[in-house]
Amino acid sequence: MRTIKLGNSTLEVPVVAVGCMRINSLEKPDIERLIKTALDEGANFFDHADIYGGGACEELFADAINMNDDIREKMILQSKCGIRKGMFDFSKEYILESVDGILSRLKTDYLDTLLLHRPDALVEPEEVAEAFDILETSGKVRHFGVSNQNPMQIQLLKKYVKQPIVANQLQLSITNATMISSGINVNMQNESAVNRDGSVLDFCRLNDITIQPWSPFQYGFFEGPFLGNEKFPELNQQINELAEKYGVSNTTIAIAWILRHPAKMQPVVGTTNIERLQDCIKASEVHLTREEWYSIYRAAGNILP
Ligand SMILES: NC(=O)c1ccc[n+]([C@@H]2O[C@H](COP(=O)([O-])OP(=O)(O)OC[C@H]3O[C@@H](n4cnc5c(N)ncnc54)[C@H](OP(=O)(O)O)[C@@H]3O)[C@@H](O)[C@H]2O)c1
Repeated sequence: MRTIKLGNSTLEVPVVAVGCMRINSLEKPDIERLIKTALDEGANFFDHADIYGGGACEELFADAINMNDDIREKMILQSKCGIRKGMFDFSKEYILESVDGILSRLKTDYLDTLLLHRPDALVEPEEVAEAFDILETSGKVRHFGVSNQNPMQIQLLKKYVKQPIVANQLQLSITNATMISSGINVNMQNESAVNRDGSVLDFCRLNDITIQPWSPFQYGFFEGPFLGNEKFPELNQQINELAEKYGVSNTTIAIAWILRHPAKMQPVVGTTNIERLQDCIKASEVHLTREEWYSIYRAAGNILP
């Protein structure tokens, strides 16, 4: 599996991350098989959050693999905190409390990466900085990042936080590519020109922050996969043609499309199906041409100005 450096750190990570948000739909032996397959294929980066399954996903993950020091060292573990019932919370106390809960559920002493999950309107960046310092000094967290944040929010944090922000997890799929479209349609009088994220894509590239696209197969907000979906006939036809050309599945092409972007993104795939996971991993070996990348972009309904 191809690897990239996470942000400006020295941590080498596989280009495809395994998302664990949905593993609580599986039985324990199936979770174990999924994790072992991922590890065997070099996909040793696992993305969690304290809220997935209300904490159950982290617990099930550690139990299924019978977490111990030996296995832990083979993995790169990331989790997220900051979402609470009815609110977002980046207070120092809550971040510290959340990390202790995550470590205990994952049965580990440290996280490779901690992300702040969704922007907290009441964030006090000085408090985040204090929390990150404590987590770093105690060895509980090695790298820090954010999720769903725009450039100004990251800048605000960076004014106080001394650790580098290595990742920003953002929603991105072929059918939800507004961060790409707004850059293609600068200043045009069309819907695609609307810049919803403060040019987060360019900001992350400029600042060596790895974008981790979440829900790479979903259209809308968890409305379902676009692959094989009759709502997207032209897109599926184009993807299927390329899948045939490369001798891979449509799943592989959908991830290869994200990986072809020169921002060196690390998509987080949420499949619970072993074959689909292997197809996602295969995308690391497929390099779409410029023509193919744009043909998929256009087939998704995007118009070039
Ligand atoms: N930071 C954030 O705010 C945020 C938000 C959401 C998610 N995440 C992270 O991103 C990860 C991925 O999110 P996600 O699970 O929504 O992403 P996803 O990979 O786009 O979607 C996975 C889901 O789509 C189904 N699926 C995919 N391809 C399919 C196909 N061809 N046919 C039928 N079903 C298909 C999968 O079913 P099967 O299991 O049967 O394959 C699974 O239910 C999560 O695990 C989590 O780690 C982060």
